[in-house]
Amino acid sequence: MKRILVTGGAGFIGSNFLNYILKTYDDIFVVNYDKLTYAGNLENLREIEAKKNYVFIKGDIVDHEQVSNTLKKYEINNIINFAAESHVDRSIHSSYSFYETNVLGTNVLLNAAREIDLEKFLQVSTDEVYGSLSTEGLFTETTALNPKNPYAASKAGADLMALAFCNTYKMPIVVTRCSNNYGPYQFPEKLIPLMVINAISNKELPVYGDGLNIRDWIYVIDHNKAIMKVLEDGKSGEVYNVGAKSEKPNIEIVKLILDYLEKPYSLIKYVNDRPGHDRRYAIDSAKLMADLNWEPEYSFDRAIQDTIKWYLDNKNWWERILSGDYQNYYKLQYQTN
Ligand code: NAD
Ligand code: TYD
Repeated sequence: MKRILVTGGAGFIGSNFLNYILKTYDDIFVVNYDKLTYAGNLENLREIEAKKNYVFIKGDIVDHEQVSNTLKKYEINNIINFAAESHVDRSIHSSYSFYETNVLGTNVLLNAAREIDLEKFLQVSTDEVYGSLSTEGLFTETTALNPKNPYAASKAGADLMALAFCNTYKMPIVVTRCSNNYGPYQFPEKLIPLMVINAISNKELPVYGDGLNIRDWIYVIDHNKAIMKVLEDGKSGEVYNVGAKSEKPNIEIVKLILDYLEKPYSLIKYVNDRPGHDRRYAIDSAKLMADLNWEPEYSFDRAIQDTIKWYLDNKNWWERILSGDYQNYYKLQYQTN
């Protein structure tokens, strides 16, 4: 039986992952190990928190002793590392916590994993490690790493450490690199929830630069299904790109949100560009599709509508976030009072 340590399971993708696997699989045991930073929210896990095969532990992945004790106490044989500082703009304001959690924390987890009987260690990574594309081409697994911001650099460092442990210690380690996710429970600092919530609240929608930067979008459940496939069948030492062939310029998404909510385009405000803003991401997941028989199931047009509707229907969830510390970050990033 798989006994999985999921780190960062109270964040956006991790909590969707836990809701998905604990409702889908009976023959697993899961420990959610999360520091509960500003981005960790146990409310995301209400529907599964009482399950007998689920345990939550508040802990930092940088703490070797606590990680090691947790692995041994719960006889963990699989590790999925979602835990990270994940927001590019925050990494531009200050990169220390990004280095600490993303690089050092992954290193601690890898070392602790050497002490157990490990079936698989899955490092959840991002296409941002490849840098930025011009108008042509796609990222493949052999594209050279060329991270362009502190967040991306810290994730690239973690990926390389994971692959180095696989080579050096012959550990069963795989890396996934996914494109931009959207869906329920995404912290409202990221493009889609931020724009939806501002539009609902009749606040300005701050678009960076010319609004023509391109991201490749995937619904979070498609990403999570890919992670389960790679955990089960991924080949040790391999990297798997995950994407749903859904490239969109930011301004198109912003207008789509305003259209859906029947709000005027006059809410759009072009603001200063992000320093070193990557122009375009686009990912080729042919390897994952061919080798592990995965394919995305959700169309962007449908899933983005469901996502907007989720934020409309779950005002209490994001209002509680907005009334807390997030306000300080919003003032810093967008220079409001
Ligand atoms: P998130 O910021 O929503 O959640 C991160 C979670 O990690 C939070 O619950 C937080 O409390 C926890 N955490 C942070 N530091 C920790 C520490 N030191 N110890 C233990 N827990 C800690 O992030 P997300 O968007 O859910 O991303 C999850 C993972 O997926 C990250 O590794 C990220 O790099 C990767 N990823 C994200 C995207 C995306 O579009 N969001 C795309 C590709 C890959
Ligand atoms: P984001 O959700 O931060 O993801 P990432 O930078 O990791 O891709 O941003 C997605 C795109 O949206 C990116 O090109 C930056 C842009 N953006 C804005 O234009 N305005 C905003 O307020 C935010 C948060 C992002």
